[in-house]
Amino acid sequence: MFRAVAVIALLASSTFALPQSPGQAYTGTAGNTTVAGDSSGPDSNGKYVIEGEGIRAYFIAYGASISNLFLNDTSGIERDVVAGFDNASYYEVDRQHPHFGGVPGRYANRIKNSSFVIDGETYNITPNENPTPDNPQGLDTLHGGPDGWDWRNWTVVAHTKDSITFSLTDPDGKEGFPGEVVSYVTYTLGNMTWDMRMVALATTKVTPIMLSSHTYWNLDGFANNETATALNHSLWLPYGGQRIDTDPILIPTGDILANQPGSLNDFYTTPKQIGANFSNPDLLGNCGNNCTGYDTCYLTNRIAPYDWTAGETPVARLRSAWSGIQVDVFTDQDAFQIYSCGGQNGSMALKSTQGLHGVEDRPRTIQQYGCVVMEVEDWIDAINQPAWGRQEKQIFGPGDEPYVLRASYRFSTNETAVGLLGVGSG
Ligand SMILES: *[C@@H]1O[C@H](CO)[C@@H](O)[C@H](O)[C@H]1NC(C)=O
Ligand SMILES: *[C@@H]1O[C@H](CO)[C@@H](O)[C@H](O)[C@H]1NC(C)=O
Ligand SMILES: *[C@@H]1O[C@H](CO)[C@@H](O)[C@H](O)[C@H]1NC(C)=O
Ligand SMILES: *[C@@H]1O[C@H](CO)[C@@H](O)[C@H](O)[C@H]1NC(C)=O
Ligand SMILES: *[C@@H]1O[C@H](CO)[C@@H](O)[C@H](O)[C@H]1NC(C)=O
Ligand SMILES: *[C@@H]1O[C@H](CO)[C@@H](O)[C@H](O)[C@H]1NC(C)=O
Ligand SMILES: *[C@@H]1O[C@H](CO)[C@@H](O)[C@H](O)[C@H]1NC(C)=O
Ligand SMILES: *[C@@H]1O[C@H](CO)[C@@H](O)[C@H](O)[C@H]1NC(C)=O
Ligand SMILES: *[C@@H]1O[C@H](CO)[C@@H](O)[C@H](O)[C@H]1NC(C)=O
Ligand SMILES: *[C@@H]1O[C@H](CO)[C@@H](O)[C@H](O)[C@H]1NC(C)=O
Ligand SMILES: *[C@@H]1O[C@H](CO)[C@@H](O)[C@H](O)[C@H]1NC(C)=O
Ligand SMILES: *[C@@H]1O[C@H](CO)[C@@H](O)[C@H](O)[C@H]1NC(C)=O
Repeated sequence: MFRAVAVIALLASSTFALPQSPGQAYTGTAGNTTVAGDSSGPDSNGKYVIEGEGIRAYFIAYGASISNLFLNDTSGIERDVVAGFDNASYYEVDRQHPHFGGVPGRYANRIKNSSFVIDGETYNITPNENPTPDNPQGLDTLHGGPDGWDWRNWTVVAHTKDSITFSLTDPDGKEGFPGEVVSYVTYTLGNMTWDMRMVALATTKVTPIMLSSHTYWNLDGFANNETATALNHSLWLPYGGQRIDTDPILIPTGDILANQPGSLNDFYTTPKQIGANFSNPDLLGNCGNNCTGYDTCYLTNRIAPYDWTAGETPVARLRSAWSGIQVDVFTDQDAFQIYSCGGQNGSMALKSTQGLHGVEDRPRTIQQYGCVVMEVEDWIDAINQPAWGRQEKQIFGPGDEPYVLRASYRFSTNETAVGLLGVGSG
């Protein structure tokens, strides 16, 4: 029997060296944890800071979200490379809710027709996307429903100098899902690394579980003085030879497609700038109805069991030649979503730590294509595609092994200049 107490102990254990972090009255001791509300609790913006070598991040209880991630670029200038808001209270106030940096759950991405079948029983969950006159709430469920996990305040159960653990108990029947799910998410910073571990336990009934981290990246800290977009970021998906086919509202059709070398969706044969193919009219509709760009679930098939922790090729590398900041993503997950922020329209405020200050002709908002979302995940909507055989990865009951997601984001600075045609560079 898997005990939640054991999970906390497992997740919270951490080693670090004092001294205290700047501007923070940190009082914990090595190997011990502190809880929300004490002196290591949130700052005046409702944020919890943790630090590693060359990296500093802020998290908020809302959605167990990352709100700031600071790294130095090749010029030694600090860049805040994730989208978010200046304070924790604003996340609930903003109604556009782009799932900024949080943990979508209990089932990330879309669920076809807001329903699924387990053991012959049909479950209808709450729709929240693509409303029509006949279906005013929507045709499908995105990221766990209208009150999914990244719309709720999690509990901070542990906070050390270099790690933070959040917990959420999702009650039986919430958003229509069967059974209670108890989840723990731990983020840890190391030497230019951000590691995450997500655990979820189905405590009372059999239910689908699929989590992710929904972080919006701009590796220039939205401060690139030549472009407001992230289209010059180069992306490499070394295992991304296949993708899940989707319909115009991004629901999987059941087909798995090959990404032909040189095609729009090929990021595996060589790194390519996100915007490399934006002049190709065929890119219109590639991320759903009237959307140009990517909102695509790539498979990251490797030969299991694979050791994702050491030496292996990352499932993704994102890099901006302007800042030189590069991130390599390692994960135990079998799929990886790329969203090129086609839905941004300049209405989302930048943080005070981002953007160009003192330049009047650049609005302090996120422009269309101004960011890239990268989501470690399992095959999307596999609960409605039994032929894919993903049940063991996505359906959990009491007494089962827990759902586990692990990922490691490893940062570096890479001074390679941008090259011709955006291939092998950027
Ligand atoms: C944790 O704190 C307790 C009480 O302050 C102390 O006795 C113990 O040695 C600490 N453990 C570690 C690993 O530092
Ligand atoms: C960036 O470099 C400065 C100067 O060396 C240093 O004080 C700061 O901590 C660095 N930032 C990060 C996030 O490591
Ligand atoms: C929180 O941030 C938002 C957006 O930047 C800002 O409008 C609001 O005034 C801030 N609220 C507080 C309490 O600081
Ligand atoms: C969630 O946390 C934010 C920031 O601390 C706070 O403003 C808000 O009231 C909280 N919401 C709930 C439902 O507790
Ligand atoms: C921008 O997008 C947001 C969120 O989808 C929407 O609420 C808003 O109306 C849009 N604004 C414009 C000008 O299209
Ligand atoms: C969609 O869900 C509704 C409500 O459960 C059900 O009546 C309908 O048959 C489903 N449609 C499809 C195509 O599965
Ligand atoms: C961090 O990693 C770099 C490069 O791998 C290494 O040179 C450096 O010594 C490490 N720093 C610490 C404190 O371990
Ligand atoms: C753009 O930013 C770079 C890097 O900070 C700087 O070297 C360059 O002078 C800036 N260019 C302009 C036109 O401001
Ligand atoms: C996509 O862009 C790459 C790099 O510029 C180019 O080699 C390739 O031919 C383009 N593919 C299509 C289908 O436009
Ligand atoms: C399609 O998108 C473009 C720009 O993104 C927008 O101007 C246009 O109104 C959209 N058309 C429809 C039919 O939604
Ligand atoms: C964007 O990349 C192109 C090559 O594809 C390069 O010519 C251009 O200078 C880059 N712009 C910026 C702002 O990095
Ligand atoms: C730096 O970026 C270049 C261009 O994308 C790439 O070829 C090279 O492998 C990267 N270097 C490292 C150490 O990751």
